[in-house]
Order: sequence, then structure tokens, then C-alpha cells
Amino acid sequence: MAKGNLSQRMWGGRFEGETDTFVAKFGASVDVDQRMAMEDIQGSIAHASMLKTCGILTGAESTEIINGLKDIREDIRAGRFVWRTELEDVHMNIEHALIQRIGLVGGKLHTARSRNDQVATDLRLWLRSATRHIMGELVALRRVLVDLAEKHLQVIMPGYTHLQVAQPVRFSHHLMAYCAMLERDSERFGQTLGRLNRSPLGAGALAGTGFPIDPGQTARQLGFDEVAANSMDAVSDRDFALEFLSCCSIVMVHLSRLCEELILWSGQEFGFVTLPDSHTTGSSIMPQKKNADMCELIRGKTGRVCGALTGLLITMKGLPLAYNKDMQEDKEGVFDAADTVRDSLKIMRTQLPGITVHAGRMRAAASQAFSNATDLADYLANRGMPFRDAHEVVGHLVMMCLREGKVLEELSLIRLQEASPLIGADVYTVLRLDAVVDARDSLGGTSELQVQAAIERARRSLSDHSD
Ligand code: ARG
Repeated sequence: MAKGNLSQRMWGGRFEGETDTFVAKFGASVDVDQRMAMEDIQGSIAHASMLKTCGILTGAESTEIINGLKDIREDIRAGRFVWRTELEDVHMNIEHALIQRIGLVGGKLHTARSRNDQVATDLRLWLRSATRHIMGELVALRRVLVDLAEKHLQVIMPGYTHLQVAQPVRFSHHLMAYCAMLERDSERFGQTLGRLNRSPLGAGALAGTGFPIDPGQTARQLGFDEVAANSMDAVSDRDFALEFLSCCSIVMVHLSRLCEELILWSGQEFGFVTLPDSHTTGSSIMPQKKNADMCELIRGKTGRVCGALTGLLITMKGLPLAYNKDMQEDKEGVFDAADTVRDSLKIMRTQLPGITVHAGRMRAAASQAFSNATDLADYLANRGMPFRDAHEVVGHLVMMCLREGKVLEELSLIRLQEASPLIGADVYTVLRLDAVVDARDSLGGTSELQVQAAIERARRSLSDHSD
């Protein structure tokens, strides 16, 4: 009978003294990594079948191990499994339970394997399904945005630079900008998935194994595209987790901008939209309040997701090859970021269909702020005036309007012609908001044709996803 505490029984042969209890607690990761239990068992089942094919385990041993693992899986699913901190991590908890259940033969599962290739495999498997889930949420949110854009195609709002009114845009065009960002986010996750989907199993602790294993078989059984080519790289890099966190951070940064706009737009000063009651909260003291809590939270949670990326980058920085215990710190941030991104996307896709759009307020904001000034300058440039001069002429007209509390189209033709004789009566048509947005018919512009084309393009790209 091996001496020492429980976890020492898994590796304690060369130890005389016992691990300090607080040290064991500090070193344990099972509270966090038990989330990979299903992946751990999936990986172990594939490993045990491969050991049989390669003649390292007998058929009977492999079957006994696999059945034992399946029973443990049932216990975990049913919430019957007792996780023990003394057993350090998910891997040793499951292996220990296996040995308890089927006896010493359970100890053969770990032949030709190390916890180092095991944990790298588990995390890749976990991230593969988390990535697919997030990709599904991204598609669902993109659909919601496209639907909304289609519904509000005729709504015109101010477009901003420096948060100052710049030029009028279709509300749809603004929404489709987010759709484009999220489409790239989907692409990014897809590319990450390709690099993620390689099997580290067979790398052992760091240098491979002397047993005649077939890593191709485990890779195939686990749905990996290929086997990692270098054993040291396979167990020591976490770039796939960094890529995942980077994709997550970019999604959150995108969402935080949309959230910030919804917060602004739903405030009294803008009054462009009303957010649904289902996604807003009141104040315990101010009865009139309706706060955009969900948007604020997503904006806030962007910090912790970007923090998870920064945290893991710094954990990995300067680590010598191959495995180091530092790397056990990789999971908490990854799980948290995955949950946060998935839930944030879901909140946005359920919130957006419930917004009320105040088209009149948007239009008024666009028409009161000289958003058509560029169009008057373009008009003059089209009639031969160098654009710089046209800019100057219109600038003076804007100043005149500001003094008189008017907008450009309220100036009489005579006064406009005093500024430049190139101006004709047709200028009033050019300055209408609808004409202004439709005039921008360049690719990716805000004209009805362009926005409709963008909506159709987005729909085509979404039709590839069945979800
Ligand atoms: N719990 C460990 C981790 O997450 C598993 C690998 C442990 N390997 C080792 N050589 N101590 O990193």
C-alpha cells in the first residue's frame, strides 16, 4: 500500500513526507477544471481503444476501462460524483475513481500518456465545442441585425464622427456596420477552430512515448483534423487558448460599442430608441428611471474578457519549454470568457428585436445639425468650384445659419446665390435628407440600393449556416 495522502498515491513513490494540506489546496485545480470532465472521459475512452488496437492493452482490459469510464460519466452527469480537492485535478479524480471502481486494471489507462498531453487534449476539445456554440450565437445575432435593418430601411438618422453630427445615414446602414463586424468575428473563430483542432495525445509528458501507439487513431476518434507534429510544442503551447481569448475580446469590444450606442440613443437627450422592459431595470429611488443595465453590463464585462486575454498572455510570457504548472492558470479565464461572450451575445439577440425605433427623433436630429453641408459643398464642386473653395463657401453659410437659427435649406435662393452664383433652384432637392443618403451610392455607402445590397449579401452569407 502506497504511503501518503490521496494525491500522493497517484505519484508519491519517491516521497517520504506528506504534502502540506494548504499546499495541496493551493495547487488543486479541480474546482475549475471539473468543467472538462466530459472531454477528459472522451479523451480517455479514445486512448483506451487505441491502446487495445496497438496491443498495449488486451481487449478485456480496454473494455473494462471504457465501461468504467462510462459509468463514471453517468455519475458525473447525475451529480453523484464526489470531487475531491485532495486529488488535485479533474484527471486524477477520474483516474482514481476508475481504479476504485474497476480495481488495479484502471491503473493501466495512463500507459503511454501524461497529464500534460491529457490536459492539452481536454482543453482543445472543450474549446472546440465552446467555439462552435459561440459561432452559433454570432450567427443568430447577425440574423437579428439583418432583420432589424430590413425593417427600418427608410429610417434616417445622423451619422457621427467625434460624436458630432457628420452626415445622415440610414439606421439600417448603421446596424449593418455591426453585422459586418460580427461576420468577421465569425470568420475569426472559424480560423481559430482550424488551428485548434489538432491532437496533442501521444506527446506524453513532453518527449513522446516508447510504446507503439497510434496517435492518428485517437485523433480520428476525437474528431481532430490531425496530430500535433512536435511533442514539446503539443504540451507546452497555449496559443490556441490565446487565439480563442483574442477572438472573444474582439467580439466583446464590438458589442461594447453597440451597447454604448444603445445607452446613448435610449437616453432622453437622443431619444432615438426605447429599449424593451424585458432588458432594462428601474431605480429603487427614482421612479422615472429606466436603465439600460444589460448594455452597461456587457460594456463592463468587456473588461474581464480582455483581462482574461491579457492574463494568459502574461502567464505564458517567458515560460521555458515544456509544461510548467503556471499553465494550470489557463482555464479559469478561458471558461469565464467563453461564458461571458456566449451570454452577452444571447442578451443582445434577445434585446434588439424588442427595441422601439423613434424615426421622427432620428430624422429631426439629422436635419437640425447641418448634416447636409457636405452635399452643398459637393454640389458646388460638381459645378466646377474647387472643393476647398466650396468647403469655405459652405462654412460661411453655416455660420450665417447659426447666427439666424436656420438650417441651410431655409436660406432663400437669392442669399445662397450671393454666396455663389453657381447655386441654382435645384439645390433644395439636393439638400433633402433622403436625397443626401441616396446620393452616397458608392460601394458600401448609405443609398437605398447599397444598403439593400448589403442586406442581401449578409443574408446570403447567413444562409450557409443552418443552426
Ligand atoms: N492540472 C494540471 C493543469 O491543468 C494538469 C497537468 C499537470 N501536469 C503536471 N505535470 N503536473 O495544468
